Amino acid sequence: MQTQLDQLRFDTLIIGSGLAGLTLALHLARSGKVGLITKGALLDGASGWAQGGIAAALSEEDSPAAHIRDTLIAGAGLCDEAATRYVVENGPQAIQWLIEEGVPFTRDQGSGTGYHLTREGGHSVRRVIHAADATGQAVQATLSEKARTHPDITVFEHHVAIDLVTSMKLGRAGASHSGAGRCHGAYVLDKAAGKVRTIAAHSTVLATGGAGKVYLYTTNPDTATGDGIAMGWRAGCRIANMEFIQFHPTCLYHPHAKSFLISEAVRGEGGLLKLPDGSRFMLWHDERAELAPRDIVARAIDFEMKKRGLDCVYLDISHKSAHFLREHFPNIYSRCLEFGIDITRQPIPVVPAAHYTCGGIMTDRNGKTDLDNLYAIGETAHTGLHGANRLASNSLLECLVFGQAAARDILSRTPPPAVELPQWDESRVTNADEEIVISHNWDELRRFMWSYVGIVRTTKRLQRARHRINLLREEINEYYANFRVTSDLLELRNLVDTADLIVRSAMMRHESRGLHYSRDYPELLPEARNTVLRRGD
Ligand code: FAD
Ligand code: SIN
Repeated sequence: MQTQLDQLRFDTLIIGSGLAGLTLALHLARSGKVGLITKGALLDGASGWAQGGIAAALSEEDSPAAHIRDTLIAGAGLCDEAATRYVVENGPQAIQWLIEEGVPFTRDQGSGTGYHLTREGGHSVRRVIHAADATGQAVQATLSEKARTHPDITVFEHHVAIDLVTSMKLGRAGASHSGAGRCHGAYVLDKAAGKVRTIAAHSTVLATGGAGKVYLYTTNPDTATGDGIAMGWRAGCRIANMEFIQFHPTCLYHPHAKSFLISEAVRGEGGLLKLPDGSRFMLWHDERAELAPRDIVARAIDFEMKKRGLDCVYLDISHKSAHFLREHFPNIYSRCLEFGIDITRQPIPVVPAAHYTCGGIMTDRNGKTDLDNLYAIGETAHTGLHGANRLASNSLLECLVFGQAAARDILSRTPPPAVELPQWDESRVTNADEEIVISHNWDELRRFMWSYVGIVRTTKRLQRARHRINLLREEINEYYANFRVTSDLLELRNLVDTADLIVRSAMMRHESRGLHYSRDYPELLPEARNTVLRRGD
């Protein structure tokens, strides 16, 4: 329902059309009007890029207890056990929902489940259901079609959320149950029209994904600029564990391959990591070898590359039959072939790259944040599931389970009275004079984050990064105050806020745990604690 030309109102506004956003939208539809905005096309985002699959205790050889145990081990003492149990125990029904929606998972008539389950690092059994090596594409294609055609869901593609409209911003700070304020909707840039719209909603949900683009080398799509985390932070939400950035061990190393992942399932199906002379090295680092959790494998590769001055290491699965490889990894096979690498005959050159943001906006078991009527789900949230290191393929599962949980919570609440929201004020800004400032700062930020806040950290490097972030922030804030917003400026502003949260969290952790490794604090402290940041603290 439209109240004014530039002010729209929905029961629920969902920001982001990845698996988290789509799951929620489809569970809310028929019970209210849903506005789903996404800053690119509906299928853009990390979900559509997911390869390996979705972890769930589905087979008879598996159990929720075993899945919980593996998640807790990977999480290095920081997983919230109750949240982990909740996600794992709800896993099988979430997968059943996807099957009923029509997702074409790879079948295996010989297995008890009727589906092929693959294996990935840190999993003690085969438990990852998948659609060949393009699981995300299969899931997103199925769900996005349903969302696009649903009469209760209005999709706005190429719309970028700028900031949340909160009671604090409206000068009604006390008007909330939590005391932290209430969310009334969001300001959104319509990229095609070059106009900012105000979208009001009873409930607003951040489903904006992760922040891999903070780093120069990443497996993530261009959408992953930490927008939700930065918006949540600016709105007053607590943010937890941002130091735990997961580096995937095996991103394709080729000058023309931008962000192409070589799935962990390749190692799960027998792929071996090798040095250029063909020798294996993972057993020197961990007895689980190629199937150790990701933090260990990524650090081992980083160590060998730095020690030997290598540009990359190699992942070799050429000992498997060509038929097996083409059937299980059709996407990886054909993509590598485009770059002249035949994986049935040659090892694949690989390097680690930023892959997953384990920390994020703190939520409860329903995806609720500190602000009334504001939720965060998917990679943008911190639910406690991933601890200090996410177990492979637990992310899509979290999107599904928390998408459903948030839907239930939203539907159980009485909508608050509607509030008229002020329009976006552009009276004091002009068009930007020099776009080069934006592109230069993007590049600079991502380079120093890679060099100073990467797989191995030191206090000195973190201090250097902090200093540069402060300088960039000053420049960007000035730009933001004086010029009309563009999508690039908004993303840069969010990247800088997110980088700041990562660095501040990393500086607060005086130990090495999971994904955070500091040369100055190589030991593990006896007590595992979350790093929680709150604005103004
Ligand atoms: P996304 O899918 O990233 O969606 C975020 C959405 O928000 C996008 O639509 C984006 O356009 C939109 N958005 C962002 N900011 C704004 C804004 N300001 N305004 C409007 N819209 C906005 N996990 C697994 O469990 N299994 C796997 O096999 C697996 N493989 C992976 C492979 C790759 C290459 C990558 C990159 C990740 C993989 N992951 C995997 C991780 C997993 O894909 C992600 O964690 C998960 O898809 C996140 O889903 P999401 O819905 O939270 O975010
Ligand atoms: C992969 O296929 O290796 C990615 C799995 C994940 O990130 O969970």
